[in-house]
Amino acid sequence: MSDVSLEALRRRTFAIISHPDAGKTTLTEKLLLFGGAIQMAGSVKGRKAARHATSDWMALEKERGISVTSSVMQFPYEGRIVNLLDTPGHADFGEDTYRVLTAVDSALMVIDVAKGVEERTIKLMEVCRLRDTPIMTFINKLDREGKSPVDLLDEVESVLGIQCAPVTWPIGMGQRLKGVVHLITGEVHLYEQGRNFTRQDSTIFASLDDPALEARIGTPMLQEVRDELELVQGASHPFDPAAYLSGKQTPVFFGSAVNNFGVQLLLDFFIEHAPSPKPRGTTSREVAPYEQHLSGFVFKIQANMDPQHRDRVAFMRICSGKFSAGMKAFQPRTGKEVKLANALTFMASDREIAESAWPGDVIGIHNHGTISIGDSFSEGEMLSFTGIPNFAPELFRRARLRDPLKLKQLQKGLAQLSEEGATQFFRPLMSNDLILGAVGMLQFDVVAYRLKDEYGVDASFEQVNVATARWIKCADAKKLEEFRDKNAMNLSIDAAGELVYLAPTRVNLQLAQERAPGVQFLATREHA
Ligand code: G4P
Repeated sequence: MSDVSLEALRRRTFAIISHPDAGKTTLTEKLLLFGGAIQMAGSVKGRKAARHATSDWMALEKERGISVTSSVMQFPYEGRIVNLLDTPGHADFGEDTYRVLTAVDSALMVIDVAKGVEERTIKLMEVCRLRDTPIMTFINKLDREGKSPVDLLDEVESVLGIQCAPVTWPIGMGQRLKGVVHLITGEVHLYEQGRNFTRQDSTIFASLDDPALEARIGTPMLQEVRDELELVQGASHPFDPAAYLSGKQTPVFFGSAVNNFGVQLLLDFFIEHAPSPKPRGTTSREVAPYEQHLSGFVFKIQANMDPQHRDRVAFMRICSGKFSAGMKAFQPRTGKEVKLANALTFMASDREIAESAWPGDVIGIHNHGTISIGDSFSEGEMLSFTGIPNFAPELFRRARLRDPLKLKQLQKGLAQLSEEGATQFFRPLMSNDLILGAVGMLQFDVVAYRLKDEYGVDASFEQVNVATARWIKCADAKKLEEFRDKNAMNLSIDAAGELVYLAPTRVNLQLAQERAPGVQFLATREHA
């Protein structure tokens, strides 16, 4: 087997999806602990502290910096290499999160035992479903009272539309939490408080029938869990690897992240069953991970901490081949061959200069605005990966300049910041307005702050009469021309030069669509 195949098979690249506060940060910390990246735990906390102070500009700045380092966390575990891609915490940063999900091979869903399936989880799950991403589920905070495990599984099945296969099952909950049973090995792992910073997860008994266990947890409790399991095993699905890999079934684990309970069972199962990198589609053909030539795509761009140097880090997910420092690759969008120097890897906690990286890994490439989200890089032949979406923004504002002489800087700033992908920038065909679209309100504040800080432009954002945006596509050039003429008032060009319809109201959008059969109005645009 080639080095590329071996390394690709070892990789597990995933993201955690959850509603805020379900325990993503805490679980991340514990996973890193098992991966031996203990020093990292502190920075995850730091990021979280910053995240909670959203109105504080310094905190935002800090968060940007820290999140570059914790955007990708790589650690070895049991002979495998795990890449955990962080999804931004703000409910606001939706679009970024969605794109991170295009760069992973599987996901881990964290659910709060008391709250069950929450709104943001539902949204993220919809995105996972677009690619049939395999999902494991961790039901967290078992040390607190919550919904009954059976009800939770029902809820996941009915609300998220995915079959549940419990792999561990709780013995008690809240004050009465005694442990979990592993339904595949039969082992019972007892819950002990205060073990949250040690690697050993719990005291282990071979099975529910172990007499020592009865002595430990008492006969009534044991009987209770036996009865429950009888019910559950009759009613639920056994773990089916194929159903999991095709996104139809989710293995479910119970535990308490903060107490480091049930986490190792999850990680061990994950390492064994979660998929290694799979082939991915490009505009010309499918690319297999074990191909010798390097290929990959950029799913995220982040400006660097230092505002004096306007450099940015482009995060590239490697899809095939081997990356070596200083190698050259084609960038199909520009048609150029570029040198990939100064790439970062994210091993353990530190940003390090990458000497090599393999399929499933993410590298950070420094650049000065020459790389955009959705860009592909490939060695030997031009390959453009598909499936990295740009979502239609839901909020719009017109940029207003305090000093009209700074128009050029403003345009440049808006265009460059929109390359990072959190905002989108539109120039109407019929006016000189500069319109910014975003998925969350906070983005406008962030952009105003950064325009001033990084571009020296004092701008504010004011209401504009736009409700929604649709990218326009039409195979028939004549029809498109006609459409353009008739609707010029509502048409804009986005930062990538694509035609976009900015509708003042939903009704207007509907009418425009009805009047132009044959013209497509797309709610997402794939990066070309
Ligand atoms: P998030 O990243 O998904 O937003 O969640 P995070 O890990 O920050 O956890 C949210 C809160 O839930 C934190 O409390 C965290 O300590 C707590 N938590 C996480 N796992 C468990 C668990 O297994 N049991 C219990 N009881 N709580 C858990 P906080 O008060 O917001 O922060 P902190 O002051 O404890 O750090």
